[in-house]
Amino acid sequence: MSKIFDWLEGVYKKWGDIARFWIFGSPKVFINSYDIAMQLLSRKNFLLKSEEFLPLAPIAQYSLPGASPQLHPIRRKMLGPGFNRQTVEKSFGIFNKHAQALCHRLEEFSNKHVVLNALTHTGLCSYMIGCDMAPIKVNECYLDLLLDLEEKKELTKEDVLHELNLFIVAGYDTTGTTSAWALHLLASHPECQEKALKELKEIFGTRKGSDLQISLEDIKRMKYLDGCIKEALRLYPVLPWLLRRTDEEIRLNDGTVLPEGLDVPINTFLIQRDPNFFPEPDLFWPERHFPGSTSNTKAMLPFGAGPRICPGMLFGMHELKILLAHLLLAYSWESLDNPKKMKCVFHGVLLPKNGINLA
Ligand code: HEM
Repeated sequence: MSKIFDWLEGVYKKWGDIARFWIFGSPKVFINSYDIAMQLLSRKNFLLKSEEFLPLAPIAQYSLPGASPQLHPIRRKMLGPGFNRQTVEKSFGIFNKHAQALCHRLEEFSNKHVVLNALTHTGLCSYMIGCDMAPIKVNECYLDLLLDLEEKKELTKEDVLHELNLFIVAGYDTTGTTSAWALHLLASHPECQEKALKELKEIFGTRKGSDLQISLEDIKRMKYLDGCIKEALRLYPVLPWLLRRTDEEIRLNDGTVLPEGLDVPINTFLIQRDPNFFPEPDLFWPERHFPGSTSNTKAMLPFGAGPRICPGMLFGMHELKILLAHLLLAYSWESLDNPKKMKCVFHGVLLPKNGINLA
């Protein structure tokens, strides 16, 4: 699978913004340009997933991501309150608690070499559903919303189970892998790790570990860490392709016609390394996300765009900041990998092929 990324890069260099292929007898048009991606994603009716999506994401096919173009807007509106600001803020206690628990668990590895496939941990799944798994204690959260919708007969029991399953999977793997990639990048760029730590110490003074409950106000001050996380999402987007199929003929601004029923994977991995938007695109450079930088960060699609944009974006970003702040305050991280030679694999999300080696 890691060869696919080398191949895709070759595809872009050779064919440019739109690359046409026949794969197993079926035509595919890879979209490698931000402008064309936005012409498609911002359409109200560009919602169909391509056929590759189904085997890749069996859990997703019966829930929001697999919802038909007719059902999607209805479901999305119904489930919206489960992802809003108030719901996310109610989860801060759980985010802090499990980040502290993870730091505690890592104590036995301090001064040792650790290999992490993804920095997920049992607690992360509790974060997502706003429940504390041990003992099981449900907060007023996403689950409450689903049960309420079931009571009002707007969802069936099966719908509730599918949406809950999806919520856990979509929230767990995404933030888990992104935190692992971010830690790898910070560990292999000690000067950036130092800047992130300096900012955190300015916010928290000597507080860390169980003395530290990170709040929304604290998060708003984490400007440098925000840039680090955005760089991790740019270089290693959880979903390197957004899989779509046209459900009608589409004429692009340059006159190119995409016929109905065509698979058009949108290549976020390449778009986010486009040198026209990101000078020195392979460089980890958190400051490029600051105002006035020479990068044009509008070409960032780590959470997708348009009607299917990730509803868990705020959830994920807050959770990542709380987790990484605790981890950086608790330990100093060193990378044993060569950042230029990291290989990726795609197993539902974009993973480091050989894990991440930290000390
Ligand atoms: C770093 C964190 C995350 C990243 C990078 C991410 C990325 C994405 C992307 C790219 C999509 C759009 C897929 C498409 O257009 O085909 C998506 C959809 C979705 N995400 Fe996230 N996600 C993250 C965190 C979360 C979290 C924490 C949750 C739940 C709490 C979540 C729930 C969902 C759901 C339900 C969808 C389907 C939306 C729809 O089809 O309307 N995600 N995510």
